[in-house]
Amino acid sequence: MSKIIVVRGLIKNFPQGDQTLFILRGVQLEVEAGDTVSITGQSGSGKTALLNILGGLDDFNEGSVMVGGEELKGLSETALSVFRRKKAGFIFQFHYLLKDFTALENVMMPAYIGGMKKKAALEKARALLSDMRLDARTGHYPSQLSGGERQRVAVARSMINDPDVILADEPTGNLDPENSAAVSELLYANAEKWGKSLLVVTHDTAVAERAKFRYRLSEGVLKPEPEGQTRDVPALSETGGAAGPEGAFPEGGLRGMAANGLVS
Ligand SMILES: Nc1ncnc2c1ncn2[C@@H]1O[C@H](COP(=O)(O)OP(=O)(O)O)[C@@H](O)[C@H]1O
Ligand SMILES: [Mg+2]
Repeated sequence: MSKIIVVRGLIKNFPQGDQTLFILRGVQLEVEAGDTVSITGQSGSGKTALLNILGGLDDFNEGSVMVGGEELKGLSETALSVFRRKKAGFIFQFHYLLKDFTALENVMMPAYIGGMKKKAALEKARALLSDMRLDARTGHYPSQLSGGERQRVAVARSMINDPDVILADEPTGNLDPENSAAVSELLYANAEKWGKSLLVVTHDTAVAERAKFRYRLSEGVLKPEPEGQTRDVPALSETGGAAGPEGAFPEGGLRGMAANGLVS
């Protein structure tokens, strides 16, 4: 099996006034093609920071992050935007669908922008929406869809450019338990069907337990959950510093747009 993600000694700090927040303090991770991985952890533990780094949305201080055979350290903004479009698919808690476009158009958009012919992009989008059990909703606008349906459209969109990795940050965080279970199952099942590596950050135990490998982000490092379930990666000596205060970084719309190739 080939390794799609290899992270070694990943360190991420945020400057905070005249202080430094030490968020990721030596994260180690290996993910093979087709693996599904869940990450849990307290609010403010750095889960979003980690996914953003893996998806080329944010940079990092130290360590090595290889995704799809590409080292992300030192890539230019242009190279990162190409990386995001080709290798990473994103799903967030908020769907970031474009309100003036139908479900079908929303899904095809990143492919079309990426240079695929419109007809091919539409056909592929239709097939992905069908996989997400949305055949009867392709012509609906986001305002005409339920929360669960919008997230299923976002899942389909994340796969349109055939990414190596799908990064899902609390994808069911806004859904009731029934819709959460449905979206989660479709997300995992389709990632498996297409052989994608899937990383899901979640607070929902049921969603986390569906993954083949489970981790908890704690004190700036990833720990197998439960202990012993996950293959070992070499430990790295910890660098000091306290974890940051509680509270997640607010998710800007631009990040969702950039993640989906809609702005670079
Ligand atoms: N751009 C930023 N500038 C300063 N601090 C940040 C920034 N982004 C996140 N943080 C801080 O980093 C920590 C981890 O944030 P985050 O990754 O959003 O946590 P989680 O997703 O696990 O809730 C938090 O303490 C947050 O306040
Ligand atoms: Mg978060």
